[in-house]
Amino acid sequence: MQRATIVTFLCLLSHSSSQGAGGEDTTSPHLDVTTELVNLRDRITEIRMELRYMEKENAALEARVTTAELELKTLKEKSQVAFSASLADSVGPFNVDSTIVYPKVITNVGQAYNLFTAYPCMCLPAGIFTAPVRGIYYIGFTACGNADSNAMALNLYKNSDLLTNLAKYSNGYMTYFSGGVTVQLEAGDVVYTQLPANSKLYDDHINNRTVFSGFLVITV
Ligand SMILES: *[C@@H]1O[C@H](CO)[C@@H](O)[C@H](O)[C@H]1NC(C)=O
Repeated sequence: MQRATIVTFLCLLSHSSSQGAGGEDTTSPHLDVTTELVNLRDRITEIRMELRYMEKENAALEARVTTAELELKTLKEKSQVAFSASLADSVGPFNVDSTIVYPKVITNVGQAYNLFTAYPCMCLPAGIFTAPVRGIYYIGFTACGNADSNAMALNLYKNSDLLTNLAKYSNGYMTYFSGGVTVQLEAGDVVYTQLPANSKLYDDHINNRTVFSGFLVITV
């Protein structure tokens, strides 16, 4: 700061003297050194004020850039969302509709699929996907049914709204259906699947036959 002022001062001096050398002042026998100095002093005062203003402006800009960088980082982190989890075992039948928990996590980038009741908070049960940012998401599933007298069925919910409701009543070995929706979610919206009462789904530990998946397509 001090050095900058001295440099400015020297520049002004050389600027002033070169102007003097080429200008009318050199021809004047009454070069008023005092007036010149006063002018210079005034200019320096002005320049100091300008510098102080620019310093303030610079600090304000720096703060804005820091905030923007932080926001971008948070958004980038929150925008990396993709999950798939499989059932790994049979579920049902139950006598009420029950949220399905897929315990075998295949992918969970962004940790938005809640496997444990303790994550991200105790308020959400396992098996639920929570949108971390407002965006368009694709949510899908593949479900397997295997013999016996129970239907295979699955309901997909966004919050309390039913998005799809698939069922297959004919008995058979290793029957499948798949469903999926592209849906806009607000940050905090939840998506989950339920096993309708008296239905059953099949999976084993190896084959990932019943899988719940989702990913963020774009933020909006
Ligand atoms: C099931 O998913 C796991 C990842 O959790 C994978 O390692 C395995 O190969 C998958 N099984 C089959 C049969 O694709």
